[in-house]
This record gives sequence, C-alpha cells and structure tokens, in this order.
Amino acid sequence: MKLHFHEQGAGLPLVLIHGFPLDHTLWLPQLHGLSDVARVIAPDLRGFGNSPATRGTVTMEQHARDVGQLMDRLGIERAVIGGLSMGGYVALAFAELFPERLAGLVLCNTRAVADGGPARKTRETVARRAIEEGMAALAPIMVHPLLADVTRKARPDLIGHLEAMIGRQDPAGVAASSRGMAIRPDRTPLLGQVQVPALVITGSSDTLIAPAESEAMTARLPKGQLVSIPDVGHLSCLEAPEAFNRAVHGLLGQVA
Ligand code: MLT
Repeated sequence: MKLHFHEQGAGLPLVLIHGFPLDHTLWLPQLHGLSDVARVIAPDLRGFGNSPATRGTVTMEQHARDVGQLMDRLGIERAVIGGLSMGGYVALAFAELFPERLAGLVLCNTRAVADGGPARKTRETVARRAIEEGMAALAPIMVHPLLADVTRKARPDLIGHLEAMIGRQDPAGVAASSRGMAIRPDRTPLLGQVQVPALVITGSSDTLIAPAESEAMTARLPKGQLVSIPDVGHLSCLEAPEAFNRAVHGLLGQVA
C-alpha cells in the first residue's frame, strides 16, 4: 500500500500519525510550525484521506508496516515517530515491530492498554454506523467530544474544520480501523523496553483518554517525559499548537 503523505522541512525525520477518523491535515500546525527543525512527514493512514481503503479489518500492526514502507520509499532508516490517539496505538505497534528504526517517540492523547469488552462492542457499532449512515451524518456527533469547552468557545473555526475532515473519510476505511482498534493488544509491557527519548502529551480536559492514562504510560517509559497542556482536550496538536510544538521541539533537541 502506497500511503499518501505530506512533508515539509529538512533534517531529522519526524513522522506524525493522525487519530481516528481523521487524516494528515490534523498535523497542519506541525507541518508548518516544526519544519524549521525537522523533516515533518504526515501520512494518511490506509483508508483515510487520500490513501485507499482495505475492507474488513485493518490492524494497528498493518498501519505500522505501512508507515515502515513509506519510510523505505523516502529513504529514511530511522525517525522520531509520533501519533495522536489511534496514531499512538500505531506508533506503539511500530515501536514493537521496528525498534531499530525508532529515534524517539511522541505519544499524544493516547493509551497503551487494550480495549475492554464494552469498548470493543462500541467499535463494531461505529463500524456499522459508518457504513450504513455515512461519515457526513456521523461527523457532528463525533466532533463534539474531541475538543475542550475552552477550545470550542475560543476557536469555533476548528469545529467546521473537523466536521469537514471527518465527513470526507471513506466509511470502509473508518470501519476497518475501528475493528482493528478493537483487537489491538495491551502494549503496556512494551513501554519499559523503549530505550529512546519519549514524550507523552496530554490535555488536562481530554475526556476521551484521561490524563491519568498518560501519567501511567510516562511512569513506565525509561526516558519518558510528560507534558500536560491546560484547558486542552483530545486534539492537543490542533488546540494548542504552540505549546505542543514547543514540547516536541524539546524532544527533537534531545534526540539530535
Ligand atoms: C482517536 O482519536 O484516534 C480515537 O479517539 C481513538 C479511540 O477511539 O480509541
């Protein structure tokens, strides 16, 4: 699978993996704001944005292998890998599959643990509704929990931006990754084996993945550092790009 991607800048490669059900445009503030210090690469995962969908189930490992193939195509041996939420699940799968290709890790608004039974059931409901109702119908419902109240008031433009982003996703791709998330393993044991610098970013108002989950992950990462951004929800890179980019800038300095 040849992933579609955008890149900007030169130097240390930084691959940023978007969340669900989004695409590479989640990372526009990083493509612009970090390209003076890194070669920022933002792919559309299989079934999102302009990358074609595979029907059925797409696992986090499959997404990680796609990212590895993209790096091969671009002649990149090692990179800092960052991911937000589902992108974090993919980044952890990448860390497990290709530890030698990992120069640093950025885990944003994500978790290492697997889904429990009720969450797995919800994944199947989301997959079915995506196919039956279409993404334009689901977009307004899905946007609401992504942003903090403070962001919704201060940046109403982001609501439209996100509704459009979610609304244009391919239902088959959304369904396949929803099912893939449901069967991802618990990667908590992996965290202790990550030998590269790792930055964990959360928002104090993230109601989808509580900051406590980020604290727990950081405690297990040998070279982990936590940044919690006040009044920010699930999409820290978009809601507080300056604070987010400052934190990533710090990690890139450590890696270089
Ligand atoms: C995401 O933003 O990628 C999703 O909230 C991840 C999830 O549903 O677990």
